[in-house]
Amino acid sequence: MSRFATIRSVVMGSPLFLAAAGSQTQNLSMFDPASPPAESIKNLTILVFAISGFIFVVVEGVLIYCVVRFRHPRPGAGAGSQSNAGAEPPQVYGSKSIEIAWTAAPALIVAVLTLVTARTLWEVNVDPPEPKKDDNALHITVIGRQWWWEYRYDHYNGEPLGFTTANELHVPVSDDPKNPRRVYLTLKTADVCHSFWVPRLAGKTDLIAGKTNHMWFQPDRTGLYVGQCAEFCGTQHANMLLRVVVDTPQDFDEWLKYEGSNAAAVPTDGELYQPQKTFLSQSCVNCHAIRGTTAKGTYGPDLTHLMSRKTLASGMIENDAEGKNLTDWVNNPQKIKPGCLMPPFGLTGRERDDVLRYLKSLK
Ligand code: CUA
Repeated sequence: MSRFATIRSVVMGSPLFLAAAGSQTQNLSMFDPASPPAESIKNLTILVFAISGFIFVVVEGVLIYCVVRFRHPRPGAGAGSQSNAGAEPPQVYGSKSIEIAWTAAPALIVAVLTLVTARTLWEVNVDPPEPKKDDNALHITVIGRQWWWEYRYDHYNGEPLGFTTANELHVPVSDDPKNPRRVYLTLKTADVCHSFWVPRLAGKTDLIAGKTNHMWFQPDRTGLYVGQCAEFCGTQHANMLLRVVVDTPQDFDEWLKYEGSNAAAVPTDGELYQPQKTFLSQSCVNCHAIRGTTAKGTYGPDLTHLMSRKTLASGMIENDAEGKNLTDWVNNPQKIKPGCLMPPFGLTGRERDDVLRYLKSLK
C-alpha cells in the first residue's frame, strides 16, 4: 500500500470520520461555535492568544535584536586584549521608574486575564434551574459508561419525560432570540471518569464518580454536532464518540413523542412473535431494556428504538437499514470494539436470525 493509501485508510477508518459519516457537518473546531458557552470560550481563547502573542513578540523581538546587534565583542573587550578584557557593560541599579513599569504592566495583564476568565466561567457554569411550565428548557441526565453514553430525558418545557436512550442526543434548535431554548445536562458516571466534549456547543465537562456536574448549551443552528469523550477512560476511550442532533422544534417534538413511546406493540402472534420470544429468552435482557417488554436491563444501551439511531457502538459504525453492521455486531462485538463489555454470545444460526429480525423491527 502506498503511503497515501495508508494514510487515507487510517483517516477513513478513524472514529471521528465515522461519527460524522453521512453528514456534511463534521466540524470539530472550537473556533466555529454554534452556542453561547462555546462562543464565550472562543472569545476568551482569542483574547488570551492575542495578549500572550503580543508579549511573545515583544520579548523575542528584544532578545533577537540583542543577539544580532551585540554579536561581536566590543572593540577592546575581547579575549587577548590587555585593557578591559571581558569587561561588562555599565550596570543599572535601582531605577524606580523601570521597576514600577515592569511590576505594574504584568499585574495589569494578570488582572485583565483573571477578570475575563471569571466572567467566562460565570457564563459557562450555570446550574440548571428548576423545570417550570413553558420554560422551553430541556433537562437531560447524561451517564458516562465504558464506552458509551446513556441519556435520560428528564424534562422539556416543564413537562416530565422519563425515558432513556443512548449515544445519539437529540435537542431542539434555539434560533429565536426572543424565545431561547436551553439544554441543561446533568453529568454523572456509572464507572470511571469521562468527559463530555462537543467543541462547537460548549467546553469540556468531566463526569466524575461521586460528583454531579452540570453544563448547558443553546445551539443556534440545526445539524449534527460531533464530539468525543475527552478523558481517558480505558481501552475504548477513543471510540466513545458523541453525536448531538439539533432538530427544528417541530422535528424535536415529533422525535420526543416517538422516542418516548414504547416499542412497537408486543406481538402475541404473527411473524415477529417467535423472534421476540427468542430475544427475550436470551441473556440480552439482563443488560438491555426494550420498553413495553420484559427486557429491563440497565447495564447496556436501551434498545427500544434501536433502528432509529444512525450509528452503533457509540458512533463507531453506521447502523445501516439492512442491518449488515448490526449482524456483525451481534455475531462478535469484540471484533468491532475490542474490550467492550458485551461478549459474543455464540448464538445458534436460528437464534441469531431471530434476534436480528427482532432487533431490526425496533424502529
Ligand atoms: Cu469515556 Cu474516555
